Amino acid sequence: MRKVLFVCLGNICRSPTAEGVFRAQVAAAGLSDVISIDSAGTAAWHIGKAPDQRAQAAASRRGYDLTELRGRQVAVADFGEFDFILAMDRSNLADLQAQCPAEHRHKVRLFLSFSSQWQDHEVPDPYYGGAEGFDHVLNMVEDAGIGLLEVIRARIGQEIRPKA
Ligand code: 4NP
Repeated sequence: MRKVLFVCLGNICRSPTAEGVFRAQVAAAGLSDVISIDSAGTAAWHIGKAPDQRAQAAASRRGYDLTELRGRQVAVADFGEFDFILAMDRSNLADLQAQCPAEHRHKVRLFLSFSSQWQDHEVPDPYYGGAEGFDHVLNMVEDAGIGLLEVIRARIGQEIRPKA
């Protein structure tokens, strides 16, 4: 099992969007049994809340269902539990690095480092902006999800295939 945790600030806009999109990509690849996915926020403001209505609406227009997701805060146990802990922006990254035990620090990185188009970028916070911000988030996380899936697939493949 490979475990992926998407992290943003509130866990109601960007990281649940990434969770919903990556779930769909993993399901389409037939890998739902070997890749588990979750999301969390660095802040505690939206614990137990459903994703922002604008995030749900934008995702729904592309066929992703975020309705069942609920906000939670990152916990120290997550650093041991997950294999990939993927921050949406540099502020999330710094918050995670500050909490993460040294032995797990290699798991924490920017999600867009897996993107082919936005490798050195952050997923911008859409909370205080308009609907187009949520579509931009979707474009970014769809692209990075494809790259992440390729990396995980290659790792799984290496384990299954015996070395010559
Ligand atoms: P997120 O967006 O980190 O993508 O979930 C935000 C959600 C809520 C707030 C900020 C960002 N807030 O200030 O409540």
